[in-house]
Amino acid sequence: PKELPLKGTKVVVTAGPTRERIDPVRFLTNFSSGKMGYAMAEAAASLGAETILISGPVSLVPPANVTLVSVESAKEMLDAVLLHFETASMVIKTAAVADYKPKEVHSQKMKKQAGDSALVLERTTDILLELGKRKKNQLLIGFAAETNDVIHYAKSKLEKKNADYIIANDVTEEGSGFGTDTNAVTLVGKNIERQFPNQSKKELAMQLMETIIQLEKDDSK
Ligand code: PMT
Repeated sequence: PKELPLKGTKVVVTAGPTRERIDPVRFLTNFSSGKMGYAMAEAAASLGAETILISGPVSLVPPANVTLVSVESAKEMLDAVLLHFETASMVIKTAAVADYKPKEVHSQKMKKQAGDSALVLERTTDILLELGKRKKNQLLIGFAAETNDVIHYAKSKLEKKNADYIIANDVTEEGSGFGTDTNAVTLVGKNIERQFPNQSKKELAMQLMETIIQLEKDDSK
């Protein structure tokens, strides 16, 4: 019989981009397709976890056996994650969450005006940082999309956000990062730095999940 190491646990996965509205027809977003997060959710579910997939707007079909929660903005994603956090065993933050949102959301479509225009932005809540503060027994796994000094930034995020693992993604590498079907990453933990070569996001997600489960098992011995 197939082993189900996550049976009886609840795993929360966030995926995709967020949208931060400017007016009824415009928003700020990024190039996340949701593929990596959906693959992580699929892997968690197939390893037996009750899986909650909290997703920004993407055009993917959700994997079987996951509960999909669709959200739009960083604030909605934060609220949805907090709703499930206390009862979760593991939270995997694959989503590319906006760091800033427009300070003012116009209720009517903004009209063109002569000359330049400026958009004033304010910070969104850092969901991972917030979870790191509230963490009890949950395993907290973040992703980090970087263009330079990837491992250095991953290590500093691990510490600053009180995460257990950061999956560092060099998004400048060919066939890796936003939108692609493949990815190459480095898993960074307190005592570990392991590279995973370029492969399909689905295979990679399964390897990451299995590696993390094994590392935690070794750790609790
Ligand atoms: O969706 P795909 O097209 O498959 O692409 C996958 C991916 C490149 C988006 C993914 O692999 C990835 O790297 N996701 C994290 C992207 C990111 O926003 O990284 P970051 O360094 O800005 O954030 C670090 C961590 O903090 C992330 O876990 C992020 O979810 C979290 N964060 C960030 C900002 C914020 N306001 N709240 C957060 O929780």
